[in-house]
Amino acid sequence: MPASIALKQNDSQQDLIIDPGSGLALQGRIRIPGDKSISHRALMLGAIAQGETTIEGLLLGEDPRSTAACFRAMGAEISELNAESVTVRGIGLGELREPIDVLNAGNSGTTLRLMIGLLASHPGRFFSVTGDNSLRSRPMSRVVKPLQQMGAQIWGRNNNTLAPLAIQGQQLKGIHYHSPIASAQVKSCILLAGLCAEGETTVTEPALSRDHSERMLEAFGAKLTRDPATHSVTITGNATTLTGQKVVVPGDISSAAFWLVAAAIVPGSELVIENVGVNPTRTGILEALDLMGADITLENERTVTGEPVADLRVRHSSLKGCTIAGDIIPRLIDEIPILAVAAAFAKGNTTIQDAAELRVKESDRLAVTATQLNRMGAKIAERPDGLEITGETPLRGAELDSHEDHRITMSLAIAALNAQGKTTIHGAEAAAISYPKFVDTLIQVT
Ligand code: S3P
Repeated sequence: MPASIALKQNDSQQDLIIDPGSGLALQGRIRIPGDKSISHRALMLGAIAQGETTIEGLLLGEDPRSTAACFRAMGAEISELNAESVTVRGIGLGELREPIDVLNAGNSGTTLRLMIGLLASHPGRFFSVTGDNSLRSRPMSRVVKPLQQMGAQIWGRNNNTLAPLAIQGQQLKGIHYHSPIASAQVKSCILLAGLCAEGETTVTEPALSRDHSERMLEAFGAKLTRDPATHSVTITGNATTLTGQKVVVPGDISSAAFWLVAAAIVPGSELVIENVGVNPTRTGILEALDLMGADITLENERTVTGEPVADLRVRHSSLKGCTIAGDIIPRLIDEIPILAVAAAFAKGNTTIQDAAELRVKESDRLAVTATQLNRMGAKIAERPDGLEITGETPLRGAELDSHEDHRITMSLAIAALNAQGKTTIHGAEAAAISYPKFVDTLIQVT
C-alpha cells in the first residue's frame, strides 16, 4: 500500500493523518525555511538601525510575523513579508516609538524576551507586552531580573515573572551578568539592553548558547568583544549607531533536523537538504546523530553574510543509542524531541540529561515527547532533567496531540512515517510557527 498523508480541518484545528503503508522511502533534494533565530534578529536589528536593511530568505512562519508586527507598531517600516526580499527602514537606536496598544508576541519567546531588552532602555516611554496562552505561562524572571539590575522598571503578573508585562523605559547602566542558564534569549536580551546603557554590559553563560546576536550585532556595527574561554560577551553602550545591512538568512538546522532523522530511520532513504545554517553553536544535532551512527555528509560548505552554510546529505543507516548531556545541550536544545524519535528506533538505550530547560519551552517538551511517543508504543521514561529511551521498540500508529507545539507536531509526524498503521496528530496547524510548508515537503519526499 502506498503512503498516505493528509491534512483535515477539525473545527479550528487541523489533523495531520499519516499512514506510511509499506515500503516508504524518502528521496529528493529539498530546501527548508529560513532560520527562525536569525529571522527575528534581522527584523529587530533592521528596525533599530539607521538606513535600510534587506533580508533575503526570511522565515515566513508565525513567530517572525509577530516580531514584524511589534516593530511596525513602534515605527519601523517593514515591507510585506516574503522569502525573496524584505526591506526594513530602521528608525535608529533608542528611537522606538511608544506603541498605542499592547505589543503581542504570540507564541514567540524570542520576540518577547529580546524585545524587552530594547524597550527597557527607552527612557520616558511606556510599553506593555503579552503573548498567547503558552507564552504567558513561560518564565520571564530570567530576563526581568538582570534588566532590573541594570535599572529597568518592569511589572507583571506573579511578582513580575509572567507576561503580560508593563515596562517603563529608563536610562540603564551596564552590568556584568553571570547567567545561571545557557540561554541565547537571555544573553541577547541583555546585550540589546546594553546597546543604549551607560558603560559596558557583559554576559557570562555557563556554556555557549547560539551566537547569532553577536554575529549580527557586529555586522551592524556594534562595539562587541567576546571571550570564548569564559563564554563571555561584552557590548559597549552608546558607542556607535547601527547601520542597516543586507542579511541572507540560511535554512534553519532545527527544521532540517526533522528530515535528517526521517531519512536516517526510514530504510532506503536518501535526501539532500540544501542551504542549511551550520553555525557551530547550532550543530549539536549533527554531532549527536554522528554519535548514533547516522550517515550525514556536509557538502558545498560556504559562509553567507557571516554565518556558515552547507548542503547536508543524509542516507538511511542503522542507529545506536548514546548519552547526550552537558555543554552540547544548548547547541541542540530545540532538537531533543526529534532526537528522541531517532533514539526510539536505535539499537540500545539513549539517555538525555541536563535538559530541564525543555520543560519551559512552547510546551513541557520532556513530558509531551514521552507521553505522545509512548502512546505509539515507545518506551520512554521521563526524568526531571531528561529522558531515558529504550531503543528498537516497534512503533504503531496512534491518536496524538501536538499540545500546540510546532516541534512536537513535526517530531510526531516523522515518528509516524516509520510506524505501523495510521497516526492522527491533532493540532497540527502548530507547525506553521516555524515551518508553514512542512506537510508539503513531507508529501514531496515520500
Ligand atoms: C532561541 C534560543 C533558544 C531556543 C529558541 C530560539 C533564540 O531558547 O530554544 O527556539 O533565537 O535565541 P533559549 O535561549 O531560551 O534556550
